[in-house]
Amino acid sequence: MSRALATTTASKRSPLPADLDATRLPAHVAVIMDGNGRWASRRGLPRVMGHREGVEALKRTLRLCSDWGIGALTAYAFSTENWNRPGEEVGFLMTLFERVLARELEALEQEQVRIRFLGDLEPLPAGLRELIANATARTAHNSGIHFNVCTNYGGRAELVRAARLLAERVAAGELDPASINEDLFAAQLHTAGERDPDLLIRTSGEQRISNFLLWQLAYAELHITNVLWPDFDERALHAALLDYQGRQRRFGGVDAAGA
Ligand code: FPP
Repeated sequence: MSRALATTTASKRSPLPADLDATRLPAHVAVIMDGNGRWASRRGLPRVMGHREGVEALKRTLRLCSDWGIGALTAYAFSTENWNRPGEEVGFLMTLFERVLARELEALEQEQVRIRFLGDLEPLPAGLRELIANATARTAHNSGIHFNVCTNYGGRAELVRAARLLAERVAAGELDPASINEDLFAAQLHTAGERDPDLLIRTSGEQRISNFLLWQLAYAELHITNVLWPDFDERALHAALLDYQGRQRRFGGVDAAGA
């Protein structure tokens, strides 16, 4: 049922759809993968089956983004609030993350994906932390797409952590508070070194940011689709990119026509 990432060989790469402009693709796409539970419930299946299918949708999206020349994909896999779900579901998700990582590492390496896990990784099960450390190290120098998996991630917690890291340096006399600017602040975030997402996709129709990348999404274009995450496919990604390419990005300024 599950297809290994490596089944995509160079000859099987999906071409960029002709109506997309390769020179105006987002360099970084972020996704809030919502609707796994509803996808399963609608089929009379346990919620966790939706997460299993959600992994397939994530692999599909990663492969397409990589094939189409998008530089980075950041996915919200587990939020700081997700610990409040029933213990059985949390346990299933942790085991699923472990299995996916163990199973896909070779393919990620082969396809030159650089994987990183963003968030507070300390509370994760030790086995998962080991797999994460291994996958991060083994793919660190890969030249392909940056794949960021936000795990035990919360935007507010990330901002508080950044403030604390800077405060510690000020208290130690290593940093002048007057030299704190946006670049220095961004360098304390889990996403340090990654450019901000240009496009945020949220599935299942919910119109919320849900504590995701609060700093980094400042100027991202938002694409909200009613598609449930496990159904997110080439057609849905294509639609999101067409929507993105139809937007005028002004970053608080005015466009060329002065509008
Ligand atoms: C929310 O759906 C989705 C999640 C909690 C994400 C689950 C994680 C994955 C599919 C990817 C794991 C990937 C790797 C690489 C380890 P929901 O349960 O909130 O859906 P609902 O709103 O319909 O209840």
